[in-house]
Amino acid sequence: MTKQKVFVTRNIPEKGLVLIRDLYEADIWQSEDPPGRNDLLERARGVDGLLSALTETIDATIMDMAPGLKVISNFAVGVDNIDVAAATQRKIPVGNTPGVLTDATADLAFALMFAVARRIVEGEQFVKDGNWKTWNPRLLLGADIVGGTLGIIGFGRIGKAVARRASGFDLHVIYSDPTERPAFGTTQVDLDVLLRESDFISLHVPLTPITRHMINSVTLKMMKPNAVLVNTSRGPVVDPEALYNALKDHRIFGAGLDVTEPEPLPADHPLLSLPNCLVVPHLGSASKETRDNMAILAAKNLIAGLNEERLPNCVNPQVYE
Ligand code: DGY
Repeated sequence: MTKQKVFVTRNIPEKGLVLIRDLYEADIWQSEDPPGRNDLLERARGVDGLLSALTETIDATIMDMAPGLKVISNFAVGVDNIDVAAATQRKIPVGNTPGVLTDATADLAFALMFAVARRIVEGEQFVKDGNWKTWNPRLLLGADIVGGTLGIIGFGRIGKAVARRASGFDLHVIYSDPTERPAFGTTQVDLDVLLRESDFISLHVPLTPITRHMINSVTLKMMKPNAVLVNTSRGPVVDPEALYNALKDHRIFGAGLDVTEPEPLPADHPLLSLPNCLVVPHLGSASKETRDNMAILAAKNLIAGLNEERLPNCVNPQVYE
């Protein structure tokens, strides 16, 4: 019997690859750099399954290269790189990897919050530059975490995991999400209340036409001058130019960004010239165990789709109706 063909667009951890390599004719992209558009079009031609990453745009044109495509399994919880409507129209189930990366991402949100509030990276640079000559009572004064108000925008799995951690730091937690009920001692508020009252703001919304640039010159102006903004969701949720202006003019205290627009952020981007802006390269789920678990889940979604079974995690269950 001929094996089904799959294209795995990035070299994901072995724990996932081992589940699929022998079952299928698996074409696994080896380069550290993601495939370009032409590579993607070429390698997707005629496949039965696609295991993609957030670096690949999977649109109708890619889907149409593979008329027998049975499944698209994304190695991420976010699926904004996939035209899910086009997949649904073609009855192709789309899988993602929720749950397994919740804690790692919530941890990173806290790491960024602390690093910005306590000016850790500036401190490290100060030492490396040879400027540490003495203890100085006024050196690199940051902001206290304890007793502050943390505003969580988007109260899904990751937003809730951030709220759970906050209780250990005696933070008062408010959130804005019309679809989720209060949990872990939090209070639901309107977005404008959250923006005005929070000392720390952490973003946990998916990227949609509604959330694109929801942090912009207007919403930034509503924030407190001591506010620390943390983004571990998707870069385009924040308007980078508006954020640059707010940080440069010290209208907010600082920002910690795991995700950016554009992504990757070029080394000469204006945001990187600001000492009160900390940027890391999309590391939310980047722990060994989490990436292994994502790979396993993505492989299981792929296998289920190729077996024409319901995916363990499917973002468009309408395809089964
Ligand atoms: C996701 O899963 O959506 C993250 O951004 C990458 O792990």
